[in-house]
Amino acid sequence: MAALNRIQKIASHLDPPKPNKFKVALLGAAGGIGQPLSMLLKMSAYVSDLALYDVANTPGVAADVSHMSTGARVKGYLGAEQLPAALAGANLVVIPAGVPRKPGMTRDDLFNINAGIVKGLIEAIAAHCPTAWVAIISNPVNSTVPIAAEVLQRAGVLDPKRLFGVTTLDVVRAEAFVGELLGVDPRDVSVPVVGGHAGITILPLLSQARPPLPASVSPEQRKALMARIQDAGTEVVQAKAGTGSATLSMAYAAARFADSCLRAMSGEGPVTEYAYVRSEAVAGLPYFSSPLRLGKGGVEEVLPLGAMDELEAANFEAMKAELMGSINKGVEFVAKGP
Ligand code: NAD
Ligand code: LMR
Repeated sequence: MAALNRIQKIASHLDPPKPNKFKVALLGAAGGIGQPLSMLLKMSAYVSDLALYDVANTPGVAADVSHMSTGARVKGYLGAEQLPAALAGANLVVIPAGVPRKPGMTRDDLFNINAGIVKGLIEAIAAHCPTAWVAIISNPVNSTVPIAAEVLQRAGVLDPKRLFGVTTLDVVRAEAFVGELLGVDPRDVSVPVVGGHAGITILPLLSQARPPLPASVSPEQRKALMARIQDAGTEVVQAKAGTGSATLSMAYAAARFADSCLRAMSGEGPVTEYAYVRSEAVAGLPYFSSPLRLGKGGVEEVLPLGAMDELEAANFEAMKAELMGSINKGVEFVAKGP
């Protein structure tokens, strides 16, 4: 027996256990976010099958990405009649489908078009892969996640532990900007960002940054840094001057979020991530982006936000009415029906 154990131990060093692999469906795969995200997901060790769905141009994207010499099998799906096949057996569905902002628009200005797109896609998820984890990128996230939850609930398949609004880009930006300010590698920086994903609902908790901001950073500089993180999406929209919003940094952020989900699904827990989820445990609001402990079944625990300084606490109170308004708008959209 001891000899067998020794042999197994040596064998496991020679051939380390392979990660579990999953089917990921990407809806909106031919878009500005979808294309680089397709590439990054094709590079993930956790993906066995990558289903690339869009209403346009997926044959070309799928052919292109499928030539990468990594493990995931890639298949393109085009148009509504192919959506069921794209979703069948999916473990994780990532949704960047929808229109992006142009200069002068708010994320909420996208509601009229994107609400219907997200609703339709979630109805298909409810029918064809009701137990998949669902990660929504399409804006306005503060409303599209409540829309998704209402649709799933009406179909009798809602599990709030598996439904996420992707706010990772806010965290990524906070890490990048704080790293720049401190002159350290952003990969060594952590900054909680909580709340929602629009303007003042994006709340970076700079008082909890690690490494901490030194006392030489003045209150005005802190305020400016907070505002830059809140307005970073608009910074990109303006720089792109009418050709779209953040796509490459978003694809990076979404790939990071997807990897966290797949690691958690694999049982490689505990995994901590930020996302906008249904939960009243934190701020007395039905949806809030919080630090989450993810496990095999999804959200295992919504973690506390931690201490806030005076400026953060004031922002926390100030965002609540706007966030609640966006949540209600999503809920009412589904209640109103087609
Ligand atoms: P894009 O216009 O470049 O791409 C969108 C893609 O969605 C297109 O390929 C389009 O054909 C596809 N599409 C439209 N309707 C569809 C449907 N019914 N089914 C499947 N696909 C459909 O836009 P983009 O730059 O990729 O941005 C997409 C969305 O992501 C926007 O709403 C944008 O505001 C949002 N976004 C969110 C974040 C975030 O942090 N959550 C960050 C950046 C962008
Ligand atoms: C972002 O934060 O970059 C996205 O939400 C896109 C946008 O419209 O700003």
